[in-house]
Amino acid sequence: MRIGVIGSGRIGGNAARLFAQSGHELLLSFSRDQDKLARQAAEIGARAGTPREAAEFGEVVMLSVPWTLVDEALDQAGPLEGESVVHTTEQFGPGGGRAVGGRTAAQVNAARMPGAAMRRRSTPSPPGSRRRPPAVPAPTASSCSCAATTRRPSASSPA
Ligand SMILES: NC(=O)c1ccc[n+]([C@@H]2O[C@H](COP(=O)([O-])OP(=O)(O)OC[C@H]3O[C@@H](n4cnc5c(N)ncnc54)[C@H](OP(=O)(O)O)[C@@H]3O)[C@@H](O)[C@H]2O)c1
Repeated sequence: MRIGVIGSGRIGGNAARLFAQSGHELLLSFSRDQDKLARQAAEIGARAGTPREAAEFGEVVMLSVPWTLVDEALDQAGPLEGESVVHTTEQFGPGGGRAVGGRTAAQVNAARMPGAAMRRRSTPSPPGSRRRPPAVPAPTASSCSCAATTRRPSASSPA
């Protein structure tokens, strides 16, 4: 599967590495340092590009940027109508909580992405907690513990 990743940090960068190791084709994007991005992409056998190129490349697009940069990243990506978007973004971190205003990240992102259907998978529980996580298969786009948004106008539901 071709996966375009917007956000090459701890989550996006490591997810891209795992996806590539599982045999997926990756295009990594969104960095302040294009040379670093190119090196990081080459290291994991991915292409480097712009968010728009990631959106065009991916059968699935993964959005994984700091909360305060989501609008900027979406602007750079351009229209994602009809794309499947997996996003890990959440409001925790500098500036994020103030922006959410009592809504969940999924609710805010749904408003940022009109017409999208959204679902959120719960994060696996740590060892010793009441609910144990299921065995984790080889990573795929849908195995992330994050919200998944499919930009289909007819499938809109709350988180
Ligand atoms: N870390 C976690 O454990 C965790 C867990 C669950 C969810 N999340 C959420 O997932 C999202 C990504 O988290 P992360 O930890 O992967 O973030 P991160 O490591 O800080 O990555 C930020 C990404 O944005 C890029 N970027 C471009 N312009 C930037 C700018 N002006 N300022 C800062 N970064 C810029 C960075 O590239 P350069 O640095 O190369 O510019 C990098 O690719 C966030 O919404 C976070 O809340 C994080």
